[in-house]
Amino acid sequence: MATMFTRVCSRGLATSAARGSKVAVLGAAGGIGQPMSLLLKQAPAVSQLNLYDIVNTPGVAADLSHINSNAKVKSYQGSEQLDDALKGMDVVLIPAGVPRKPGMTRDDLFNTNASIVQTLAEACARSCPEAILGIIANPVNSTVPITVEAFKKHGVYNPNKIFGVTTLDVVRANCFVAELKGFDADSTLVPVVGGHAGKTIVPLISQSNPKAEFDQETLDALTHRIQFGGDEVVKAKDGAGSATLSMAFAGAKWAFSVLRALAGEAGVVECSYVESTITDAKYFSTPIQFNKDGMEKNLGLPSGITKFEEELIAAAVPELQASIKKGEEFAHK
Ligand code: 2OP
Repeated sequence: MATMFTRVCSRGLATSAARGSKVAVLGAAGGIGQPMSLLLKQAPAVSQLNLYDIVNTPGVAADLSHINSNAKVKSYQGSEQLDDALKGMDVVLIPAGVPRKPGMTRDDLFNTNASIVQTLAEACARSCPEAILGIIANPVNSTVPITVEAFKKHGVYNPNKIFGVTTLDVVRANCFVAELKGFDADSTLVPVVGGHAGKTIVPLISQSNPKAEFDQETLDALTHRIQFGGDEVVKAKDGAGSATLSMAFAGAKWAFSVLRALAGEAGVVECSYVESTITDAKYFSTPIQFNKDGMEKNLGLPSGITKFEEELIAAAVPELQASIKKGEEFAHK
């Protein structure tokens, strides 16, 4: 498994194999939405880019539309245009919502972002039930269950099509391991499983490729840095938000992998947060192999993970279960 994950995931923003998919970004004028839309606009894999937000969409769309790449950019603004933005889409990325301020956890965003995601998920269930969804809006550990419940309510839920994007955790793990070991950052690959918040983020450093060994003290510090890397950015931005540029990179990287699979490339793998039976948490991120219908196979946990990593997973499960329950209860209110 690790070999396949490594082979297909270590290519940065590789997009050239795929052509011609329709992608919508919900929250396109926001801090993540704008740079992610820029990355999508320059990709040959994208033929149409529908940008939706509640304000400022026409400006972002006009700006991007002057770039001489083939993706056609369309602007959609306000809830009355939401369903039109979604019709015919192959992939929908949802970075909408508010970001963290210093001292906040991702769960502190729940009250605001849960209803934003629910509204957007309902629209997707109505207008593009067949699309592949990538949920970026935090708290991802809860917003994915909220999305799934909205699809179930509409009778259109397909577990192979709804994903939480945890790619930034993989990107950070790759980056930090490469820095410490002096590896080429672009071809370092560290799978990360679990969820997308603090200790629910479980880097499997034992599965790193190239192989990377650390003493326990360094391993503890490195694991903590990957788990709380988002806080580093929130603190450095000092009230101006959370990670936007690295999140845009990670969201685009995830989307380009999905687009390559949609275009027929075999064996494309990205860690993603999905409904799962791998642990006692109902949703859990593991390496997912994609095909043109979304998830082809959940590759599960790699064999050969260490006792330390098993303990991290065990510690992640109760927090995941609580976040999942919170999302599901919100959806049923
Ligand atoms: C992160 O920094 C924004 O959740 C995102 O990890």
